[in-house]
Amino acid sequence: MITKIINVTGNEVSSNDDWAKEAAQVIRAGGLVAFPTETVYGLGANGLDEEAAKKIYAAKGRPSDNPLILHISEFSEIKDIVKSVPDVAKKLADAFWPGPMTMVFEKADIVPYGTTGGLDTVAVRCPSHSVARALIKASGVPIAAPSANASGRPSPTLAEHVKEDMDGKIELIIDGGACDVGLESTIVDVTGPVPMILRPGYITKAMLEKVVGKVEVDPVIVATKPDPNLKPKAPGMKYRHYAPKADMTIFEGKSEDVVSRINAETERLHAEGKKVGVMCSEETKAMYKGDVVFSAGKRSSEAEVAHNLFNILREFDECNVDYIFAESFESDDLGMAIMNRLIKAAGYKKTKV
Ligand code: TXA
Ligand code: MG
Repeated sequence: MITKIINVTGNEVSSNDDWAKEAAQVIRAGGLVAFPTETVYGLGANGLDEEAAKKIYAAKGRPSDNPLILHISEFSEIKDIVKSVPDVAKKLADAFWPGPMTMVFEKADIVPYGTTGGLDTVAVRCPSHSVARALIKASGVPIAAPSANASGRPSPTLAEHVKEDMDGKIELIIDGGACDVGLESTIVDVTGPVPMILRPGYITKAMLEKVVGKVEVDPVIVATKPDPNLKPKAPGMKYRHYAPKADMTIFEGKSEDVVSRINAETERLHAEGKKVGVMCSEETKAMYKGDVVFSAGKRSSEAEVAHNLFNILREFDECNVDYIFAESFESDDLGMAIMNRLIKAAGYKKTKV
């Protein structure tokens, strides 16, 4: 299959545009279209068509028990795909939709088990990206879309990343430039008595609690090592994810201690002829002796760090480093989402210095 790429830039996009009509045709015919959202690129198919969903799993190499998120263009479209909309969900939708938040509901019968990984619940998101919304509207169906990476690789934040992983496997890539947020949406389960975060993202626990009061966090998210007794409520969270090819370790501690420790490790590996990559902050970038040193951004700007994270992980693969050392980006806000991705990328290897 030849994968076509269409560039769609500018704010003035509509579901009546030629690109939207062409992409919608592919979706309605059961094909796959990768498209930008404000979080990461999604790999879209008709979410009500089990056969189309199967193609997503095949293109990504994704285990079939890992459910897909259904994307809608307006809140009103939700009534077709869920059993009911609890009050907390209405409040959260009011506050954060369209935007980088996904909610898990009891599914309506029309949603096939092929898209929910066999679950009786369905994850729904209303993205804010104008290209995503125009595509969904033009298609006239909810679009099932996981991140458009090959299973296990960092999520794509540029159309080039999608091309790396999906070229020849899907009909169409809509190139809308870089994704703003850079991390996948916050997932909130609203089926229980208290809303629970199943995956941290740009919408933080504090932001959710401002709207609906107490919010819980799936214990798996904050685990510092893999625990066979903890079963994540979002099935996808159990898989090794975001993994760069090189062996990666995170170092946590006072900034100067982390710098000297990483430099000491780097010198040791240089003596063995190894190539070392470092992921750090703007403040410390000049202090490292690694072969490739990427700053994720200023410590004061967590949004910048989130935005750059997946791109940097992919860059390390391009540079063929043998080892990656990363600073820790722990914090109460976006730090939970950033560290959730980093710790998985590092296979839970984190050292206190
Ligand atoms: O920002 C995002 O959410 C992006 C863009 C494309 O919208 N999508 C995305 O999809 O990250 P994906 O498939 O890479 O991650 C979806 C996560 C998986 O961990 C999956 O297990 C979980 O959502 N999930 C989906 N349906 C679920 C359900 N019914 N119950 C619990 N978790 C669910
Ligand atoms: Mg994903």
